[in-house]
Amino acid sequence: MKFTKVLPGLVMVLILLATMVGCSPAATPEPAEPAAPAATKVPATEAPAAEEPEPAAKVYAYEDMVVGFLQTGSEGGWRAANSASFKETATQLGITLKFYDSQNDLAKQVAGFQQFIQDPEVNVIVMSPLEVTGWEQVLKDAKAAGKPVILSDRRIDGFEDLYVTFIGADFVEEGRKAGREMCKLLEGSESKNVWELVGNVGAAPAIDRGKGFRETAAECGIVVTNSQTANWSVVEGKQVTEAWLKASKDVQGIFGQNDEMAFGAIEALKEAGLVPAVDVKIISVDATAGAFQAMLDGTLNVTVECNPLLAPQVYEAALAALNGESLPKWIPSQESVFFMDDPSLKDIAAGRQY
Ligand code: AHR
Repeated sequence: MKFTKVLPGLVMVLILLATMVGCSPAATPEPAEPAAPAATKVPATEAPAAEEPEPAAKVYAYEDMVVGFLQTGSEGGWRAANSASFKETATQLGITLKFYDSQNDLAKQVAGFQQFIQDPEVNVIVMSPLEVTGWEQVLKDAKAAGKPVILSDRRIDGFEDLYVTFIGADFVEEGRKAGREMCKLLEGSESKNVWELVGNVGAAPAIDRGKGFRETAAECGIVVTNSQTANWSVVEGKQVTEAWLKASKDVQGIFGQNDEMAFGAIEALKEAGLVPAVDVKIISVDATAGAFQAMLDGTLNVTVECNPLLAPQVYEAALAALNGESLPKWIPSQESVFFMDDPSLKDIAAGRQY
């Protein structure tokens, strides 16, 4: 303090006087000298030290990111490509990835979410939600913990203020594309009965693809005469189709909400003596390597692409979120449609990453 720096001698005199007066019990106390006027505070001769500047906000780099990633499970080719995208891209960018396999169990996925909220190393959470509901509490807890949340692949219902952004496909448009292509395949057909194999109940792709398909299929008189979940799997896709065929073979088209369920339907049609993609037109979603092989084999008419290679976009958004940048609530992935009758199909298949 400036004060002690300017008057050390006066302070010493005062201390000396106090010693003489106060600390000699034997001596008759002399009348105390009038105390020196209390030292007045000498105004600082220089401006007070500037306030400490706020520490600059940390600027994150990929190497600083510890991503807690909640994957749905490992239900097929699309998911395998999606998981590989996150693992390979994390290695390329130097990101620490904590990968949680929810085994297609919603309770497990919620528990994994809570683990990442508690994990002091994790600074951003990415999730591919198994279902559109059930997330309010964990999203609120993540916000309270200051951990940004990014939705990958699948959306949820509401709570847009509780996550940074959703990076994934427009599943409704995927369904619309499938409906438009089924209309083309069934053009001129007397009957237009279509069966739908649905993904797991409550999942955004299952809800939205079904919605979109019905919008455009209705425009050409298609009637969805059977619709049932086959949980994205080949086995259940075959079982459900077998059961339907036992009841009736009056079907002109099958819409598999993913490639795997369509593969199961193809097996069931063959075993029932029907020629897939000829007697019964078949359309699926994902455009995995298996779908390209089925089209090259002549058993699948069309596959609508759903891009699983989302990690680069997701990690870029996560880094932006950690650095406080604002992002749109939805960053749609870009996708195409592929056809059995495409003369370039073999070359396209050869160039695919998954
Ligand atoms: O969320 C994308 C969907 O999840 C894919 O279409 C399906 O194959 C996977 O299970």
